[in-house]
Amino acid sequence: MAMNAYRLPRVIVPRPAVLSAIIMITVAAVGCSSSSDTTDPGTIAQNIDIEDGSDELTPDQEVPSNDTQLPGGSTDTLIPANLVLSPLPSPPLTPAPAEDSEPVRAERNTTTAEAYFAVRDPQIIPADILDDLTDADFEAGPLPAVISTPADVDPATNTPPFFVDLDNVEVFAGQQLSVLFDPEDADGGLPGMFPGNLPIGASFDDNRNGTKSLTWRPLEPDVGIHEFTVTAVDPAVPLYRSTHTIRIKVSLPSDLSTIVNLPPSVNNIRPHTVQVDDPVVAYIKVGDPNGTIPTLNILNPPPGATLTPHPHEEAITILHFVPDAPQIITLDLQAVDSVDPSLTGEQSVTIEVLPSSDFIRPGARLRQLASARDLLFGYAVLQSYYERPDGAIYTQIAGEEFNIVSTENSLKFDFLNPMPGKFRWAATDNLVQLAKAQRQTVHGHTLVWHRQLPPWVKRSALADRELIMREFIDRVLGRYAADVPLWDVVNESLEEDGTLRNSVWFEGMGASYIDIAFRQARESAPDATLIYNDYDIAFAGPKSDGMLALMQQLKDAGTPLDGVGFQLHLFADFDDVDEVIATFQRIADMDLDIYITELDISIADGQTEAQQADLYEQILSACLDQPRCKAFQAWGYTDMYSWRSNFNPLFLDDRYQVKPAYLSLQKRLGEN
Ligand code: XIL
Repeated sequence: MAMNAYRLPRVIVPRPAVLSAIIMITVAAVGCSSSSDTTDPGTIAQNIDIEDGSDELTPDQEVPSNDTQLPGGSTDTLIPANLVLSPLPSPPLTPAPAEDSEPVRAERNTTTAEAYFAVRDPQIIPADILDDLTDADFEAGPLPAVISTPADVDPATNTPPFFVDLDNVEVFAGQQLSVLFDPEDADGGLPGMFPGNLPIGASFDDNRNGTKSLTWRPLEPDVGIHEFTVTAVDPAVPLYRSTHTIRIKVSLPSDLSTIVNLPPSVNNIRPHTVQVDDPVVAYIKVGDPNGTIPTLNILNPPPGATLTPHPHEEAITILHFVPDAPQIITLDLQAVDSVDPSLTGEQSVTIEVLPSSDFIRPGARLRQLASARDLLFGYAVLQSYYERPDGAIYTQIAGEEFNIVSTENSLKFDFLNPMPGKFRWAATDNLVQLAKAQRQTVHGHTLVWHRQLPPWVKRSALADRELIMREFIDRVLGRYAADVPLWDVVNESLEEDGTLRNSVWFEGMGASYIDIAFRQARESAPDATLIYNDYDIAFAGPKSDGMLALMQQLKDAGTPLDGVGFQLHLFADFDDVDEVIATFQRIADMDLDIYITELDISIADGQTEAQQADLYEQILSACLDQPRCKAFQAWGYTDMYSWRSNFNPLFLDDRYQVKPAYLSLQKRLGEN
């Protein structure tokens, strides 16, 4: 019984490898962005804040068409029953991980993870080679527009909006570029517009006369070809849009002195709390908008501190020390310009060192209480936690409190396999070693998702998508299946209205991609537990209906599906727990297991820690009262490292102190 139809776009013209045709994507109602979209912390100045920047979604990681919804068609035959996968090709379509991707041992003074094997990736993958446009791409001229046409629009009577006089542009580093965007519509009215891939440091301003302007003064590091998109929005039908790509070529002027020398900077490292006698590391990055590498001065290094150059990044220096008494340490850091020493940038870092007694939590550990009831109780681990100042206390507490750990970002495609043949295994290798040392189960997140994809995958030919996906699954499982028994195989394939989301994978395989992904996962890891994971599917509504229909369709097709992961990124005033309980029961009735995979409970204005504590307890009860609920996993455990840290959604605060939510979980785990 499909309560909600999975629908195919009416027309998809396959996208050739080198974007040379107009792509028509037919869209229906107003697009919704996912809950994860709206609350992403956003882009952090990449060259400065290495503390948090590496994990974030940047605008160009978005799948261009992910806000479309898919109309028309019937659901019944979309997922063929008992599909038999063709063997993976030999040689493979995409290059396999080679020796030069194998991690190497990390230096002792560069990590807080001294208790177990710590490795690092051997290679450097600079951001600019991820998106390597050439002069030939620039000279090929403007790309054809990509038109999105809603199902109820007839292009014969309503022509799409367009821009007047759009062309690729050239500029010298140090000069100001100004590009005017003047949208028009032959049917009358004034089209709206919005930009995509705005270069870092550029602005896009409204001229208040129907036009907008891109203004940018690129500097030396910007030399090369950049791509920028601008979308015109039909005045009458907002989802009727045409997206134009222009390329900007930045060259060095013959007289370099025409480029202004801007002052250097040091990255901002936020305050951290650490434990006395634990190793502390600080990854300090200097930067200069002109692309030179400033000198770093640490004006007051702690006693016994060592400085180690970063193995790949010249701009990073790793400070290591072991504080032997409770204190507040303020490190004063200075970057000095390599050309003009009178230009400097300053920053200070505060490290609070507390005695071990300040980290003692009352009562029994959550892990001990959960294990006694056979419940997996866990958190998602911060990628590269061992490079954070407080990595030692972070892992100590995680080991004491949890019996399962998820990978927050380290297995995501863009991080793991940023270029064909290049793999970054070290973060997950280290996590697996940590989990073994702490006797924790590892939950693999996530094999197939529409976000956090590398450019080479987003640009790939539609006909290659199936093999790209299957080879990725096979390689990840080939390396980790022995150590990781539980996998989110497909993540977030549904829109808010319960239809299937358009995505890189959907474009390539239609609805079948979900079935194909599970079958590949089963083939590559026959003993693993394989689940479908999504948000906003636990409470009643079209998305939950769509999820139930999808699960039934997969079961009918014989897809090797073992359970459903409920993300549960909630706010503290959420009051539909009865619906969560009912949805859990529907999943149990389908003979599937239930996993709470990414729970966090944000506190918005006017909401309280007491409400948060109460809701954590109610969700835990929903799991404990449901025999098919196998895991209760939060998306992190300390507010220090939550993806929604502005909303303090976890049960230890950012100084690793107990919140009411910790105590309510502890109390509930101790009850029947
Ligand atoms: C989030 C991470 O927590 C962030 O660090 C990252 O910047 C974006 O992704 N649903 C998911 C997770 O399945 O992968 C997302 O994780 C949160 C929403």
